[in-house]
Amino acid sequence: MFGLLSFLVTLFAWVGFAHGSIAWKATPFNPPSVPLAVRSPYLSAWLPQSAGSGSSLSNSWPQFWNGDVLGWAGFVTVDGVAYSFLGSASVPDVTLKEATQTALSWTSTQSVFTLTAGSVQLTVTFLSPVEPTNLVNQSLPFSYMAVNATPTDGESHSVQVYSDISSEWISGNDAQKVNWTTTTGDVIIHQAQLQQQTLFADSDDRIQYGSVYYASVSSSGTTWQTGEDTVLRAQFIKNGTLLNTQDTNYRAINDSWPCYAFAHDLGNITGTSDTVVFVVGHARDPTISYVTSGGSMQSRSSLYLSQYSSIDDAVTTFAQDYSNALSRANALDAEISNDASAVSDNYTDIVALSVRQTFGAVELTYTPGNTSDVMAFVKEISSSGAISTTDVIYPAWPLFLYTNTAIGKALLLPLLEYQATGQYPNKWACHDLGPQYPKATGYPSGNDTRMPVEESGNMLIMTLSYTQKTNDLSLIRTYYNLLDQWAQYLVSNALDPSNQMSSDAFAGSLANQTNLAIKGIIGIKAMAQIASLLGNSSGSSNYDSIASSYVQKWQQMATTSDGMHLTLQYGNSSTWGIAYNLYADKLLGTNIVPSSVYEMQTQWYTSVENTYGVPLDTRNTYVLSNEEIWGAAIMTSTSARNQLIDFVHKYLASNLNTLPLSEWYDTATGKTICGTGGSCTPFRARPVVGGHLALLVASASNSTSGTTITAGPTATGTSPETTSTSTTSSHSSAMSLVSQMMLSTLCLPALAVSVLFLSL
Ligand SMILES: *[C@@H]1O[C@H](CO)[C@@H](O)[C@H](O)[C@H]1NC(C)=O
Ligand SMILES: *[C@@H]1O[C@H](CO)[C@@H](O)[C@H](O)[C@H]1NC(C)=O
Ligand SMILES: *[C@@H]1O[C@H](CO)[C@@H](O)[C@H](O)[C@H]1NC(C)=O
Ligand SMILES: *[C@@H]1O[C@H](CO)[C@@H](O)[C@H](O)[C@H]1NC(C)=O
Ligand SMILES: *[C@@H]1O[C@H](CO)[C@@H](O)[C@H](O)[C@H]1NC(C)=O
Ligand SMILES: *[C@@H]1O[C@H](CO)[C@@H](O)[C@H](O)[C@H]1NC(C)=O
Ligand SMILES: *[C@@H]1O[C@H](CO)[C@@H](O)[C@H](O)[C@H]1NC(C)=O
Ligand SMILES: *[C@@H]1O[C@H](CO)[C@@H](O)[C@H](O)[C@H]1NC(C)=O
Ligand SMILES: *[C@@H]1O[C@H](CO)[C@@H](O)[C@H](O)[C@H]1NC(C)=O
Ligand SMILES: *[C@@H]1O[C@H](CO)[C@@H](O)[C@H](O)[C@H]1NC(C)=O
Ligand SMILES: *[C@@H]1O[C@H](CO)[C@@H](O)[C@H](O)[C@H]1NC(C)=O
Ligand SMILES: *[C@@H]1O[C@H](CO)[C@@H](O)[C@H](O)[C@H]1NC(C)=O
Repeated sequence: MFGLLSFLVTLFAWVGFAHGSIAWKATPFNPPSVPLAVRSPYLSAWLPQSAGSGSSLSNSWPQFWNGDVLGWAGFVTVDGVAYSFLGSASVPDVTLKEATQTALSWTSTQSVFTLTAGSVQLTVTFLSPVEPTNLVNQSLPFSYMAVNATPTDGESHSVQVYSDISSEWISGNDAQKVNWTTTTGDVIIHQAQLQQQTLFADSDDRIQYGSVYYASVSSSGTTWQTGEDTVLRAQFIKNGTLLNTQDTNYRAINDSWPCYAFAHDLGNITGTSDTVVFVVGHARDPTISYVTSGGSMQSRSSLYLSQYSSIDDAVTTFAQDYSNALSRANALDAEISNDASAVSDNYTDIVALSVRQTFGAVELTYTPGNTSDVMAFVKEISSSGAISTTDVIYPAWPLFLYTNTAIGKALLLPLLEYQATGQYPNKWACHDLGPQYPKATGYPSGNDTRMPVEESGNMLIMTLSYTQKTNDLSLIRTYYNLLDQWAQYLVSNALDPSNQMSSDAFAGSLANQTNLAIKGIIGIKAMAQIASLLGNSSGSSNYDSIASSYVQKWQQMATTSDGMHLTLQYGNSSTWGIAYNLYADKLLGTNIVPSSVYEMQTQWYTSVENTYGVPLDTRNTYVLSNEEIWGAAIMTSTSARNQLIDFVHKYLASNLNTLPLSEWYDTATGKTICGTGGSCTPFRARPVVGGHLALLVASASNSTSGTTITAGPTATGTSPETTSTSTTSSHSSAMSLVSQMMLSTLCLPALAVSVLFLSL
């Protein structure tokens, strides 16, 4: 009785807080920060929300993921009266009203705002395409803002739409000098850049070369102008048009704030107007500097430059493709939503908030002249600026496995190739390829962050996972010796891991970590399967028997004396933690851990819940949301699984937080760790949230999708163009991990389970 009462009180308190103070209808909920243009480590614009009340598009400046303000203004004039719909501009000596935001909805690819301005309703769609089945398109570092207007009173109204960006999109250091040009044509392109450029230099997370683009499709009612912020904005507000003139007084970002503007006259409208399309982007060439054998550095370009003659050409085509891009995005959104809703509606929301963010940290590249040489790189973002961090790719892995294994392969290749050259001196797998994106310099003295068991296990698990999904044996064939070296390292070091860090570096190092040990052991088992796939039965049975004997010892050392749960650390029965690495045993279908362990853990987690979730372990009340979701993926009951999912949902929907999705939060308070100040830098916008798709990934049941990319020594095909069309997402044909879990642990009638859990 009391329990029910306090449950209801909590529920009402939560509902009241969550929905009561947000002034607009948020669907599915008001997220901590709304993704606006999120496509690359250097094109990452968000609308952070104030805790409790949210922040309206019409009176707040967008921000770069790290908090730098990005001047992005949008106005509409309705019968001569001007309203702001985007940004927080103040324009002296003119009257500027504020449009009223009435709704916000978001999907995997879009954030859509609805606002009222006088007698018209504006729809502002921010579309950051996710194009996993076309790697060339995925590599385009551009994003859309599309605006249309509809009278709300059935009368005719004269409507003009304006938008500009400031030079803050170029750099976070306002004292830097910039210059710019405007090119007119079917698409009008403003291009702006630093006057002093430094190749491959990332300073305070902003790239010090390349250009920012602001483009718009031209029509008869289109005008443009470059110049001081207040001058452009006042010109539009007073007259509804711009002057088609360039300011050529090149200067510092904050010296009379040079801005780049467009205005579109939609004329007198009685129904929904034409859609006005703006494109914002940040492009650079070359994109990545990558170490090759002998230590020489190779300059790699973004993959789209293999198909377009210039960046301008790419911007133009991209701008003109909006309606098709929107159709493709709607189809992808529907597919993801459909698959995720087979788990639950709350799960669908979590997934939708994670997709753009993960892809927004990834860049696809090739070497000019060789379109078969495709590699992808990821920036760690916020926890460090490192490139190709192994234990960042690993957490995000489910998203790549789900959307297109070819991207997973392209992410593994730089790590495998570098370590195969012998330039990395350690016997274990490296942590990353360099401390500062976009320079993949490697660590010739082996002094990268040390996570030997973690990263060796990660590489073996991901490599086998890729191979199982694709039947493409090229990685395990080419890099067999390297994989074998890591497996041998694990044989010597996984069962009793020395005092070392796991991926949860923030928690510090610890000897004999139960969860780390099992990752290493699964890694050894993965090597057995890798050997087997290549027909090496002696190698395979050797690793097999080691893995089996280790698991038995592990289970004994890792379980408390009373047999209630796994420990955090061998031998210490007062410790416990989320043994999230067990997820890999299900993902790979290795099934070396007995089902009794999963059942025990399922019982245990339900007994140690805080308000916002099960903590990572006994050292603290925090958790990473992706670890909570991996925990969900290995629960043996639907209710326990959904409970963990609902906790993450509750955290994200709490309106307590303000940063681009931070996976690191306090399960007691629901607050992002260090998100409200403190001695550490909060995690945010990290690609690891791709791990939220863990329940969507078909397990090892060997799907039908084939080799999907030209990258890699033994792959066939010659251009990304030809292969991209044959690329299929890998999730459509196979049974989801969840269904496998339920089948193996609950023994429900197979048909009922399939109906419930099959990926549709
Ligand atoms: C521009 O920004 C720099 C660095 O923040 C600052 O020192 C300078 O005073 C600013 N200049 C103007 C004109 O505001
Ligand atoms: C802008 O600066 C860049 C880099 O210094 C230079 O290459 C370019 O010619 C300049 N453009 C204009 C329009 O001055
Ligand atoms: C105001 O706009 C009209 C077109 O609507 C244009 O002909 C005129 O030149 C503009 N005047 C100024 C001062 O911008
Ligand atoms: C729009 O309507 C106004 C008022 O009815 C009229 O003065 C104006 O000429 C119309 N503009 C166009 C482009 O039709
Ligand atoms: C890729 O994008 C281009 C424009 O940027 C578009 O024309 C083309 O249809 C897209 N291709 C696919 C397969 O999505
Ligand atoms: C192109 O790249 C692929 C993949 O890295 C490589 O196998 C091939 O040798 C390269 N071709 C040339 C001509 O360099
Ligand atoms: C690693 O060693 C190199 C010299 O080989 C040095 O330049 C670099 O600063 C070191 N990095 C770290 C993270 O200690
Ligand atoms: C996929 O399944 C087939 C037939 O069941 C099997 O022969 C093959 O080894 C499997 N491939 C992988 C990569 O597991
Ligand atoms: C780790 O566990 C093993 C086996 O229980 C034990 O022998 C060893 O002392 C432990 N190491 C540490 C540092 O606690
Ligand atoms: C088989 O696998 C073992 C262990 O990985 C390896 O040492 C051996 O060289 C492999 N044999 C062949 C023929 O590849
Ligand atoms: C066991 O874990 C608890 C909780 O983390 C810790 O306080 C205690 O020192 C540990 N005991 C040993 C023997 O390490
Ligand atoms: C979804 O999550 C919310 C917390 O955000 C929770 O209150 C609600 O009960 C969950 N919905 C379902 C159907 O479980």
